[in-house]
Amino acid sequence: MSIFDDMLKSDQTLFRDDVPLDYSFIPKLVPYREKEQRAIATAIKPLFSKRNGKNVFIHGTPGIGKTVAIKHLFREIEEETDDITPLYVNCWQKNTSFKIAIELCNQLGYKFTHNKNTDDLLDIIINIVNKSSAVFCFDEIDKAEDINFIYTLIEKVYRKTIILITNYKSWLTDLDERLKSRLNLEFLEFAKYNYDETRGILLNRLSYAFVPDCWNMEAFDLAAKKSYELADMRSGLYILREAGNAAEDESSKKILPKHVNLAIKKLDEFRIKKSTDLKDDEQDILDIIKVNSGKRIGELYDIYISAGKIGSYKTFQRKLDKLGKNRFVTLTKTSGGKDGNTTIVSYAQKKLDEY
Ligand SMILES: Nc1ncnc2c1ncn2[C@@H]1O[C@H](COP(=O)(O)OP(=O)(O)O)[C@@H](O)[C@H]1O
Ligand SMILES: [Mg+2]
Repeated sequence: MSIFDDMLKSDQTLFRDDVPLDYSFIPKLVPYREKEQRAIATAIKPLFSKRNGKNVFIHGTPGIGKTVAIKHLFREIEEETDDITPLYVNCWQKNTSFKIAIELCNQLGYKFTHNKNTDDLLDIIINIVNKSSAVFCFDEIDKAEDINFIYTLIEKVYRKTIILITNYKSWLTDLDERLKSRLNLEFLEFAKYNYDETRGILLNRLSYAFVPDCWNMEAFDLAAKKSYELADMRSGLYILREAGNAAEDESSKKILPKHVNLAIKKLDEFRIKKSTDLKDDEQDILDIIKVNSGKRIGELYDIYISAGKIGSYKTFQRKLDKLGKNRFVTLTKTSGGKDGNTTIVSYAQKKLDEY
C-alpha cells in the first residue's frame, strides 16, 4: 500500500453533482415546509373551481425556505393544471412597476413589449390572465420602488391569488390602508428551522451533491451546527461546498472537521470584511439600524442623536444612502400612506448569493 491510496487522484472528485448546492436549486421535496405550503395551497384552491383566490403575506428571516417553498408549489401547480398560471417575480431584480410588467409579459409569452408603457403592458397582462386565472408571487416585495402594479392587478384581474414575500414584517406597517383592506391578506410566518430540521435539509442536499461516504459525520455536524447558529440555510450550503473544495485542494478522500473549519473561516471572514469596510460613523448608524430595523428615517435620526451622536439630518441621510447603495440596509420610499412621504430603513443581512 502506498501513501497515494489515501489520496484523491487528480481526475477524481468528491462532488457527484454540485448543482444541488446552488441556492436556486429546487429540490424534489421541501421538507419541514409542508404546513406552510398547504396554507398557501388553501389560498389558491378557489381558483381550481373558477372562484377568486385569497391573498397571502409571507414573512420570515432570510434563508429559511420562503422562496423555495413557493417555487416548489408553483412547479406542482404547473404539473397539475393549465388553467392556473403561476407567475413569480423577484422584486430585487425587477424593482419598478415597469420592469415587473415586462417580466410578467415575458413569462406569459407576450413579446411585443417594445415602446409600450407600464399601463399598456398591464392591460395586456390582465387580458391574458383573465382568460383563466393566475397566482402572482412578488418575492422581496420590500425592494420594489413602487407598488402601483398591485393596485391594478387587484382591481382588474378577476380570479387570482397575490402572494407577497418579505424578510421584513414591518414593510406592511406603511402600506396604504386602502390597499391593505383591498388585499385582505392572510398572514403566514416562516419560523426558523430548529437544529434537527437544519441538519435534515443539509443531509438531504449532501446526498445529492457528494459521492457516497466522503463526509466524515463529525465534520458534517459541525457544518449543520454553524448553519443552525446563523439560522440561514444558505450559509450551510456554502459551507458544504467550500468544505468539499478544501478537501479536494488537499487531495483528501474524506471531508474532515478541519475542512469544515476552513469553510467556516472563509464565511466569517467574508462577513467581517464586509462590515470593516465601513467607517466608524457608518458602523454606528448600521448598529442602530440593526436593532431598529423597519423604522422611519426620522425616527432613526432621533435615536442616533439621543445616543449622543452628532451630525445634521442631511449628513445622516447621505450616510444612509451610502449604506443603502452597498446593500447594508434597504431604503423603501413610501408615499400616500398614513405618514405621507417617508423612507423606511431596514437592516439587510448581506445575501449569501453575493459571496
Ligand atoms: N426545507 C428546505 N428543503 C430544502 N432546501 C431548503 C429548505 N429550506 C431552505 N432550503 C434551501 O436553502 C436556501 C435558502 O432558502 P430560500 O428559500 O432561498 O430562503 P428565503 O427565501 O427564506 O430567503 C435555498 O437554497 C433553499 O433551496
Ligand atoms: Mg427568498
